Amino acid sequence: MTFKRTHTCGELTASNIGEEVILNGWVGPRRDLGGVIFIDLRDRYGITQIIFTETDETLHAKAEKLRAEYVIGIKGKVIARGDENKNPNLTTGEIEIEVTELEIYSEADTPPFEIKDGIATNEEVRLRYRYLDLRRPEMQEKLMLRSKTYQAVRAFYHTHDFAEVETPVLMKSTPEGARDYLVPSRVNPGKFFALPQSPQTYKQLLMVSGYDRYFQITKCFRDEDLRADRQPEFTQIDVEMSFVDEEAIFEMHEGLIKNIFKETIGLEIETPFPRMTYDDAMSTYGSDKPDTRFGLEFVDFSDIVKDAEFKVFSNTVKNGGAVVGITIPGQGEMGRGAIDRWTERVKKETGAGGLIYIKMQESGVLCSVAKFLTPEIVDQMVEASGAKTGDLVFLLAGPKPSVLEQLGALRLMVGEEFNLINKEAFNLLWVTDFPLLEWDEESRRYHAMHHPFTSPKEEDMDKLESDPAAVKARAYDLVMNGSEIGGGSIRIHNRKVQEQMFKLLGIGQEEAEEKFGFLLDAFKYGAPPHGGIALGLDRIVMLLTGAGSLRDVIAFPKNQRAQSMMDNSPAEVEKDQLDELHISLKRIVK
Ligand code: AMO
Repeated sequence: MTFKRTHTCGELTASNIGEEVILNGWVGPRRDLGGVIFIDLRDRYGITQIIFTETDETLHAKAEKLRAEYVIGIKGKVIARGDENKNPNLTTGEIEIEVTELEIYSEADTPPFEIKDGIATNEEVRLRYRYLDLRRPEMQEKLMLRSKTYQAVRAFYHTHDFAEVETPVLMKSTPEGARDYLVPSRVNPGKFFALPQSPQTYKQLLMVSGYDRYFQITKCFRDEDLRADRQPEFTQIDVEMSFVDEEAIFEMHEGLIKNIFKETIGLEIETPFPRMTYDDAMSTYGSDKPDTRFGLEFVDFSDIVKDAEFKVFSNTVKNGGAVVGITIPGQGEMGRGAIDRWTERVKKETGAGGLIYIKMQESGVLCSVAKFLTPEIVDQMVEASGAKTGDLVFLLAGPKPSVLEQLGALRLMVGEEFNLINKEAFNLLWVTDFPLLEWDEESRRYHAMHHPFTSPKEEDMDKLESDPAAVKARAYDLVMNGSEIGGGSIRIHNRKVQEQMFKLLGIGQEEAEEKFGFLLDAFKYGAPPHGGIALGLDRIVMLLTGAGSLRDVIAFPKNQRAQSMMDNSPAEVEKDQLDELHISLKRIVK
């Protein structure tokens, strides 16, 4: 028999004392004290202490059989805990239930790890037994916050007249820059669907269809190298709007983010968000997603050292490179060993050629390359760095933009190492004015920095042919605490410009027709000016919950090798299935 619960395990307080109640849940830690059995009964709402006294022998004997993770239902009476047993940390800490009836629904084997917070279990084991991992309160809290996030998103867009439209999962490939996951078609031999890297083309088509405000919370699939903040299958809050410019999209989405913060963690965040151009972000933080929770802004020493006899400096600058650095407060007395460790780490983790330093010691200024520089140059560098006695300046020299990225990576390491990052803060920032194109040395051609449907800036249109690298895009990213949580752009809505863009990207007319003919065709029939954005829902929830990885906020994630540890997918399939799909496998070398 299943008992119909009257309350959850997180609900009863002193005000319920004397009531007869029914609870269902999982058996947690158990203590036997002088014949009385104490059990923490747990469900996703909380924990309630239940007790079995010796008055009813049959019941007591049944209770003795209970082990961790058994699923039970109980009837009983709410009683006050003795003063010495009260637990102020629990909502239910003032009461306990004296059980009168017990129903055992399921027995349980000993789980591979304890169902509690803060376990040190290897993540692969947690992923293999994900259903148990998800039973742990800290995981349930994260998923519940995620659930609230969906609600906050939907409520917000519905208030603003957005239409929620689903788009296909079996579709034609869209160019978001990663590899596609392909799905073979049985009824169309030799043909494949691609899973969406994003619904980009569909949402633009919906604008052509007149839905002027669209959103969707949707799965996207990208076959790319995985990191803590990347999953092969992830969730986007996908949006498109007609008759808008950047300002309208920024304002709407500042409202959205504000609503998410309020509804999930009860925090009022300030809007509008600051803005920074891509060029400023790169030259100040060495990143297009700068973490602005701490300073350590870059200082450019190139001008000061451009004529120095020290070739590492002067040649770098002459060849268009830069000498850049950061000033680290309070580390001026750093010892040799520590400096060596930083040097090794910088070389290994950022690829920089070496690390130069200026220590602002009590005993005087100590520059690692002082013997190659005049005292005047060292003085000027110190002055430019703003360093005071007790501070340390780290410098890198090299070609741009790599040296900026290397210093950007070093800045993050330094921030982390010396606890300069305010972990309580949520810093949001729009990064704007991205370049339209990115040169790819390997294929010796341009790639779209955002995607090929992004509009160039009006004022740069004439440079499309003459100086494509200098053209800026109407593209923007939303950055939170150094993480890219969203990206979008104002689109091209003109067939001619779109064709020109394809040409720049080395996509010939035939290929464009084959791949995106449907979109180009649609533009022939009256396309409104439009633009949009997609926000990474997993990343937002990861930051809101303070999780260290996307895996902690996705119910059933993949591991670093894009495998599901729990059901062992991807897996081999029967030969019959492959035959039906007209697929034969090359011999796979294990
Ligand atoms: P973009 O490729 O920038 O834009 O993606 C939008 C946002 O999705 C998140 N994201 C990811 N999250 C987890 N795992 C991944 N592998 C992953 N890849 C991306 C990021 C990112 O900012 N169609 C365009 C949007 C548009 O132009 O409207 C697009 O998909 O938070």
